[in-house]
Amino acid sequence: MSRRPSTSSRRPPGSGLTAAIFHPKSRPSPLLSVVLGALGVILVVGYLFRGSGLSGISREAIVGAYGDSCTLELQKAIPVLKKTYGDSMLKVLHVGPDSCSVISKLLKEKDTEAWGIEPYDVEDAGGMCKTLVNRGFVRVADIKFPLIYRENSFSLVIVSDALDYLSPKYLNKTLPDLARLSSDGLVIFTGSPGQSKAKVAELSKFGRPAKMRSSTWWARFFVQTSLLENETAAKKFEVEATKDSYTPRCQVFHLKSFN
Ligand SMILES: *[C@@H]1O[C@H](CO)[C@@H](O)[C@H](O)[C@H]1NC(C)=O
Ligand SMILES: *[C@@H]1O[C@H](CO)[C@@H](O)[C@H](O)[C@H]1NC(C)=O
Repeated sequence: MSRRPSTSSRRPPGSGLTAAIFHPKSRPSPLLSVVLGALGVILVVGYLFRGSGLSGISREAIVGAYGDSCTLELQKAIPVLKKTYGDSMLKVLHVGPDSCSVISKLLKEKDTEAWGIEPYDVEDAGGMCKTLVNRGFVRVADIKFPLIYRENSFSLVIVSDALDYLSPKYLNKTLPDLARLSSDGLVIFTGSPGQSKAKVAELSKFGRPAKMRSSTWWARFFVQTSLLENETAAKKFEVEATKDSYTPRCQVFHLKSFN
C-alpha cells in the first residue's frame, strides 16, 4: 500500500487544456502548438526532476528507514500479545500509522474486535483501507487532541510509533488520555534510541522529527504522568515471546489502565 501526504499528490498540469486541444471540432492553431510545446517541455523537465525532490522518495523508503517499523513489529507480536492478554484482546483500539493493516490483521483473530486511529490522511490509501474507514473501523484523527470515546471503551489500547513524534507537552495529555480509554491496559511500541532512524528524521510526516527516547526516559515519564507499568504483563509477554522465538526490535511497555 502506497500512501503519501495529500500535498504531494498533484494533478498532471493542464489536463483540462489537453482535453480542449484534442476536442475533435477544434483545429490546432499556432498559439495552441506553442502551448502544446511548452507543455511538453514542462512534462519532460518534471519527469527528469521527479526523483530529485522529497516527493521522489517513496513512502516505503521512509517507512523502511525509520517511520513505521514499530507498527510492523506490533503486527508480528499479535500472537504473543494474545497469549499475554487473553480475554483482554476482546476489544482493541490501535493508534498509529498504517492502522489499516493492523486492524485488518486483528479482525482476522478469533474473538477480537478492533478499531483504529490513523494519524495520517488516507486519501491515497488502498481499497482495503478505504473500506475500513468507510465502515467506521478506522478513523483519521490528530492524536494531539482528545479522542471522542468514553472511558473504558476498549479492553486494550495499543499504540505504535505515533508517540515518537509528540513533544512532552502533548505526550503529557495524550498518553493518560489513551490509558483512560482502556479498561485492561495500554501497550506501547516505540522506537529504541539505537535504531538508525534519525538519518531521515527531517522527513517526518508529523512535521517534527521522530525522537527515540530511552527506557529510562520513558520510565521517568510514566511516573510523572501517574501511569504504572504492569509487571505481570511485561513478564508474561517476555516469556511468550521467548517461546515463539520472537525478539521485538522496538521497546514495548505494558501500562495499567486508570481504573
Ligand atoms: C508534564 O507533566 C508533568 C507532571 O504533570 C510536569 O511535571 C511536566 O513539566 C510536564 N511537561 C511538559 C512539557 O508540559
Ligand atoms: C496486567 O496484565 C495482565 C495480563 O498479562 C492482566 O490480566 C491484568 O489485569 C493486568 N493488571 C492490571 C492491573 O491492569
